[in-house]
Amino acid sequence: SWTTGSVIEEQVAAIREQVGTKRAICGLSGGVDSAVAAALVQKAIGSQLTCVYVDHGLMRKGETEQVEKDFVAATGVQLKVVDAEERFLTALKGVSDPEEKRKIIGREFIRVFEQAQAEIIAEASGSDEAVEFLVQGTLYPDVVESGGGTGTANIKSHHNVGGLPEDLEFQLIEPLRKLFKDEVRMVGQELGLPDEIVQRQPFPGPGLGIRIVGEVTKERLDLLREADAIAREELTAAGLDRDIWQCPVVLLADVRSVGVQGDGRTYGHPIVLRPVSSEDAMTADWSRLPYDVLGRISTRITNEVADVNRVVLDVTSKPPGTIEWE
Ligand code: XMP
Repeated sequence: SWTTGSVIEEQVAAIREQVGTKRAICGLSGGVDSAVAAALVQKAIGSQLTCVYVDHGLMRKGETEQVEKDFVAATGVQLKVVDAEERFLTALKGVSDPEEKRKIIGREFIRVFEQAQAEIIAEASGSDEAVEFLVQGTLYPDVVESGGGTGTANIKSHHNVGGLPEDLEFQLIEPLRKLFKDEVRMVGQELGLPDEIVQRQPFPGPGLGIRIVGEVTKERLDLLREADAIAREELTAAGLDRDIWQCPVVLLADVRSVGVQGDGRTYGHPIVLRPVSSEDAMTADWSRLPYDVLGRISTRITNEVADVNRVVLDVTSKPPGTIEWE
């Protein structure tokens, strides 16, 4: 019968057998799947695993620290953090179009990740400990959706650090291939990962970059991070985390409205709250959150976040609205 303990034991044995004395790399995104996959592989092969985390500067408040400190503390994993905030912000300068933003963030992400990967490979090359494996947090629904999967990944290295071949063949380690999301969370819990990581709600890869309607700048990101942190804090305090699928907090950076605060007129930006309930994100309904919770979030955001003088609630289902605004 299915137990988290037996899944872990079975996977640990299989991974040890597969990897032998070689090395593996795993990209961490801050999400549940990559974190649990990495923790499982770490349990199996310890220091033969190196994780890479690209800090694109588009994460929410405290999330990068969760990976850098809490995840490392819980697993003892070797972690290479690449601080790429400047690079992403420079690439995003002047860009307001949502699809353009996504393309830029995706492109820069792959470049930065591949460079870090190439550095790790170069350090280990020529020894028995060559890097031959790439860990991925593929879940059962992903396997079904993509019609099977091949077991190898072709990574094109544009950076060619240390005379590496153009195309590096990795074998994939996908220890979560037979699991559903709730099972992955149980495995993560059993492996001792912090709740903040194991219970995390979905968050888009492009991060807060697609939650600023308008150009993405450091100032706007900092502002949105504050507003988002307040909303999350109040939702958690009200015990609503399990009731909602996710709650994007969006900054309408190109919109201003008139307000009054203290003894003066303000001309600030609106923040949108987008709490939704959903089964699989394909469709969604807006969450009927208690008015007093909404009120607290609104009061705190307008009091505590400079340049925000209005909080609005998105009451659109999906369809016609998507969950994210961009
Ligand atoms: P939409 O906005 O299309 O979002 O209704 C559906 C779900 O997908 C998440 N999302 C993304 N996740 N990369 C991701 O990894 C992305 O580019 C991306 N865009 C949207 C969104 O948060 C929601 O859970």
